[in-house]
Amino acid sequence: MTEALLNTVDIDKQLQDATPQEILAYALEQFDELSISFSGAEDVVLIDMATKIRPDVEVFCLDTGRLHPETYAFIEKVREHYELEIDVLSPDGEAVRKLVKDKGLYSFYEDNHQECCGIRKISPLRKKLLEVDAWVTGQRKDQSPGTRAQIPVIQEDKAFARTGDTLTKFNPLANWTSEQVWDYIRSNNVPYNELHDRGFRSIGCEPCTRPTTPDQHEREGRWWWEEATKKECGLHRND
Ligand code: ADX
Ligand code: SF4
Repeated sequence: MTEALLNTVDIDKQLQDATPQEILAYALEQFDELSISFSGAEDVVLIDMATKIRPDVEVFCLDTGRLHPETYAFIEKVREHYELEIDVLSPDGEAVRKLVKDKGLYSFYEDNHQECCGIRKISPLRKKLLEVDAWVTGQRKDQSPGTRAQIPVIQEDKAFARTGDTLTKFNPLANWTSEQVWDYIRSNNVPYNELHDRGFRSIGCEPCTRPTTPDQHEREGRWWWEEATKKECGLHRND
């Protein structure tokens, strides 16, 4: 890591007008131990761009055990299309067993999604991020005006860094709109989840995702029984 990266706030300012490709090129130049977190349409755009720079870029996916069959098919399609090894991470079996034994398979409808997301997503992510120096996400500002309006293109990840070490997080699509993402997908023949053809826009786990109507915000299809400001599962906290 170069000294310059110690000040991610300044670098973020410098990269505000950079294209996602330029941000990725910078990230890949700075870090060998870097991984792209993949689940949705945005992430495959990043994979498409990154493989043009580093063909064997590392990619991981959090398999919560509750994804749609179409999402599993999509993960496989991406693996084959880019000839990539995708690190598909499973949650801790004992922790899932205890949650389901104590509270059943749908506890999140009763006492919110944090506990289940904690076990099925956050713990495996925490473990994975101990292996890398930087990670890349497909977050965009306009995905959620309530919670993502301020996301930088580069930031120091304080939530998941190893003790006494730094972890850098890149959000190269922070300033892109959904339309730009879909324009890229269409013009570059990027594989996408077939659920998008059935009204799904933001796709997470099957029990916590539903299609949206054109007048709804994409985030309204996620954890719809909860308040908009709580619709984050903790993957992107930074405290
Ligand atoms: S979430 O926090 O609400 O679930 P969202 O679906 O908007 O996140 O995705 C934002 C970014 O988080 C994705 O572009 C991806 O980088 C990362 N992400 C979300 N879910 C997963 C997952 N299951 N596996 C890997 N990365 C994920
Ligand atoms: Fe559990 Fe729903 Fe979170 Fe998936 S999105 S980990 S099913 S609460």
